[in-house]
Amino acid sequence: MSEFTYETASADETRALGARIAALLEAGDVVLLHGDLGAGKTTITQGIGSGLGTARLAQSPTFSLVVDTPLPNGSVLRHIDLYRLNDLDELEALGFEDLTNDDSAITLVEWPERATGMLPERYLLIELEPSGTDRRSIRLRPFGLGDRFAEELGVGI
Ligand SMILES: Nc1ncnc2c1ncn2[C@@H]1O[C@H](COP(=O)(O)OP(=O)(O)O)[C@@H](O)[C@H]1O
Ligand SMILES: [Mg+2]
Repeated sequence: MSEFTYETASADETRALGARIAALLEAGDVVLLHGDLGAGKTTITQGIGSGLGTARLAQSPTFSLVVDTPLPNGSVLRHIDLYRLNDLDELEALGFEDLTNDDSAITLVEWPERATGMLPERYLLIELEPSGTDRRSIRLRPFGLGDRFAEELGVGI
């Protein structure tokens, strides 16, 4: 399986990478964002959002675990942040499996490890790791999504 690693030197560079990734996403896709607090999951989400044509997204869904933002093309950008998830019952009550199995939405999930066992089979995994104060190592690993990422992202940022 192909994978691509980028190094960004600022939050804006991470947003720019997000916008490039956005151009490759299709309705029905799920993007899992893996990384510690402050790694840049919400920042790259903002870039993906602006690439998809929404105004910059809020910091993170603060009061709810899920925020849907309509996209200009009629589909929806669904931002799920499981940081405040209490237990798996709550995930079930949320309808997590249906939310991440929705052909009319592009779904981004922060803290996907809190939903182990309920994750979809096909997804783009984005792993973010600090590599200096303002530097982040960002690894993309598409699972079951064909080779559309290879063609566009294979040649450096
Ligand atoms: N290269 C970078 N990429 C992303 N964020 C960065 C980078 N350098 C510094 N930052 C800062 O790190 C923080 C990342 O926060 P956030 O995206 O909310 O993280 P998370 O959602 O993973 O907890 C922001 O304050 C952002 O400005
Ligand atoms: Mg966040």
